[in-house]
Amino acid sequence: MTILNVLDAQGVTIRFGGLTAVSEFNLSIRPTELVGLIGPNGAGKTTVFNMLTGVYKPTEGEIRVNGVDTKSLKACDITKLGAARTFQNIRVFKTLSLLDNVRIGGHIHYKYSWADSVLHSVKFREHEEQAAQEAIELLSIFDLAHRAHDEARSLPYGDQRRLEIARALAAKPKLLLLDEPAAGLNTGETAGLMAQIHEIRDRFGIAVLIIEHNMELVMGICERILVLNYGKTIAQGHPEAIQNDPVVIEAYLGEPADA
Ligand SMILES: Nc1ncnc2c1ncn2[C@@H]1O[C@H](COP(=O)(O)OP(=O)(O)O)[C@@H](O)[C@H]1O
Ligand SMILES: [Mg+2]
Repeated sequence: MTILNVLDAQGVTIRFGGLTAVSEFNLSIRPTELVGLIGPNGAGKTTVFNMLTGVYKPTEGEIRVNGVDTKSLKACDITKLGAARTFQNIRVFKTLSLLDNVRIGGHIHYKYSWADSVLHSVKFREHEEQAAQEAIELLSIFDLAHRAHDEARSLPYGDQRRLEIARALAAKPKLLLLDEPAAGLNTGETAGLMAQIHEIRDRFGIAVLIIEHNMELVMGICERILVLNYGKTIAQGHPEAIQNDPVVIEAYLGEPADA
């Protein structure tokens, strides 16, 4: 039996007016693979995530999540199919508790009706209890369970980033997409995050696609890396090969040091 890829993107192109932000992008990801997507600022990495998750529709090309063509699907349906993401700029609900932030991530799978929720039926209460339990388990992976009832805004920045990952996991994805998860984290926090991403992959048996500027993180955990520059794929392969690829080195040398 052939194992279904969690992602198949073929010939994916998007144009904004005269700008081709991403051109002829191809990427297939097998279950449990850890793949890195790198490239200088403005290369088109976040735009790829936006297309994979249905925020933008490609101008050309095909995207399949778990074998299903996502062309006519809304973002929430693509999440339901199995692709859940975090954002480059933190998007937590600051005045909600950590627990509620994570539970919101799982709401796409809730099966009770509006009437159930208004009447607080048994079914509703059972679902709520189960969702809360799952949320606590996810928070505990990131050592955040003891703060489950605190407001998200009371967390330090690094923990808010982890909370976002916990929320994405609540959607029970087959493919987790992380957009610069280590941005703004210090060296120690980044090392901790690397270990946690590994743990998540092993524990849930899911694939992870990571956009990341921190080369140590990307090279340390990714089995395969794809490099974008000006929307085009300029290299892909094993981390060591990528690190020594003159085309990749040149693309990065052209970038300002603080990017
Ligand atoms: N909605 C949009 N409208 C116009 N241009 C966009 C839009 N989204 C992204 N772009 C452009 O696409 C290019 C790639 O951006 P982005 O994917 O954010 O890069 P990266 O994440 O690699 O830094 C940039 O030139 C950006 O300005
Ligand atoms: Mg980006």
